[in-house]
Amino acid sequence: MGEQIVILTGAGISAESGLGTFRDEGGLWAQHRIEDVATPEGFERNPELVLGFYNQRRAEAAAATPNAAHVALTALEAKHEVLIVTQNVDGLHEAAGAQNVLHMHGSLAQAMCAACAARWEAPMVMQVSDPCPHCGAQATRPDIVWFGEIPYGMEKIDAALSKATLFAAIGTSGNVYPAAGFVAEARRLGLPTVEMNLEPSAGHSLFDDLRLGPASETVPAWVNELAAKSTS
Ligand code: APR
Repeated sequence: MGEQIVILTGAGISAESGLGTFRDEGGLWAQHRIEDVATPEGFERNPELVLGFYNQRRAEAAAATPNAAHVALTALEAKHEVLIVTQNVDGLHEAAGAQNVLHMHGSLAQAMCAACAARWEAPMVMQVSDPCPHCGAQATRPDIVWFGEIPYGMEKIDAALSKATLFAAIGTSGNVYPAAGFVAEARRLGLPTVEMNLEPSAGHSLFDDLRLGPASETVPAWVNELAAKSTS
């Protein structure tokens, strides 16, 4: 088997599939206040607004298709042991055929009950009046990790990093922890680190290798390079 690779992806990998990023010009956080749509307090205050925000993003994500970057990462899985740790809540890695994807910030495809924590496949349109299919409470919410909540899969991510031979970050601005701290952990473990982004992220100085350009170009080029290396 080739390399053992941990790949962190962010909104930039889905940008060319037409899904908005957060902090680019005109991004989601320029259109909505984080405290209104991406915190438990915001949900408590106005569940209608929050469900509406995620219903809109769920519809956009359902209409989007994977781009060459998602497809290239899936091809990696054939030759290397790959864990895609995505901050994204769209299902484009899975739609491209990726098998080993960890949604550390949750997923638009999942709903959960704020009362009993049950989880189920989210309907396209979530309404405040929807009863939880398990406890009946009208407390359903998207299974998305909001600011102030604990990301999913941290133990699995740490375990994967501890046995990895390569760390890559694609399309993330490096502004949000704990994801933004993975590159420092990779360096502490002595891993080679590569970043692919349109522009240098906040953590760019921690990467050995920085490849600037659209993910649909930089990611397939990087995957091809790895393939050439593993056959030489
Ligand atoms: N190709 C590659 N990179 C791109 C492209 C592209 N076509 N378009 C944008 N980018 C890069 C931007 O340069 C930026 O560095 O993607 C990054 C997007 O950054 P953010 O909008 O901050 O998204 P992300 O890093 O995923 O945000 C992390 O913050 O709000 C929370 O939970 C939310 O998961 C999200 C987290």
